[in-house]
Amino acid sequence: MSSEHSLLIHETLLSLSNAFETAGIPDPQTDAELIVGSVLGESRGRVQSLAIMGGTLEPAQRERIESLASERAQRVPLQHLTGKAPFRHFELDVGPGVFVPRPETETVVQFAIDELQADMAPEPLALDLCTGSGAIALAMASEVQRSRVWAVEKDDHARAWAERNVARLGDGRVTLLAGDVTSPPAEIQQLKGRLSVIATNPPYVPSGAIPRDPEVRDHDPQLALYSGEDGLSLIRVISRTYREYLRPGGLIVIEHAEMQGSAVRDILAADGWNSAATHRDLTFRDRATTARA
Ligand SMILES: C[S@@+](CC[C@H](N)C(=O)[O-])C[C@H]1O[C@@H](n2cnc3c(N)ncnc32)[C@H](O)[C@@H]1O
Repeated sequence: MSSEHSLLIHETLLSLSNAFETAGIPDPQTDAELIVGSVLGESRGRVQSLAIMGGTLEPAQRERIESLASERAQRVPLQHLTGKAPFRHFELDVGPGVFVPRPETETVVQFAIDELQADMAPEPLALDLCTGSGAIALAMASEVQRSRVWAVEKDDHARAWAERNVARLGDGRVTLLAGDVTSPPAEIQQLKGRLSVIATNPPYVPSGAIPRDPEVRDHDPQLALYSGEDGLSLIRVISRTYREYLRPGGLIVIEHAEMQGSAVRDILAADGWNSAATHRDLTFRDRATTARA
């Protein structure tokens, strides 16, 4: 970071964003504002106002900011440093050991929420396979108050974060289960034929396609990223296994990589799913495929 150690917020922001730019961070100004905001306990907008109004930092605050900033400059994910990841209308607790929820998943989960909202059942049932931090399950439950949601996660570290998020943000309608989605836990087997929606953001990176961003490559858990040579191994198992878990006409929503849409549609069609369709995210990339049981 800069040598002058200014206590002026606007100079601190400038120093951080210069360092982040040098480190190749894509949006250096935003990250600088969010790091300062996390130490001050203020929103990004408020940090911007304080900077304009000549706001200052306590020496201890500046020290803490510098320490976080130097980790960020080494490409530790911003969300691991702030401990928070925004998702839909809440903030999830995240850190080492759990996949950081992404903005594109916020778009993917909308298909599940729309389906649950349109469902006439008094209590539509939903399942989130590979829940990670609990992002998709909690979004479905909180935005469709009539719903009940089950969430399955294999990894103990990830599940510990999900437990924390479900305890803080849930209201008893999300049931988190330890398990491997390739052999559905007993509680899930009891839901056969009754689910309205299955939503999943499974690992889908091909094993040889090492992500370029150090935040992803070095900090997202391997189990969250890779799924066989073409990235589709787990999606194949989900397609084969879970159609009978939905009620007739129920919807599956699968997040996948930009180039995997047609392969995912083919997998689903071969397994007897109907109306497979691929959808774009806000940047016009194919990121989700839906199909009906
Ligand atoms: C890409 S992350 C998605 C996490 C979360 N759903 C989200 O959208 O932020 C995939 C998650 O699947 C979990 N996972 C991978 N293989 C699994 C399996 N066979 N059974 C259950 N969970 C699995 C990983 O541990 C990871 O948490």
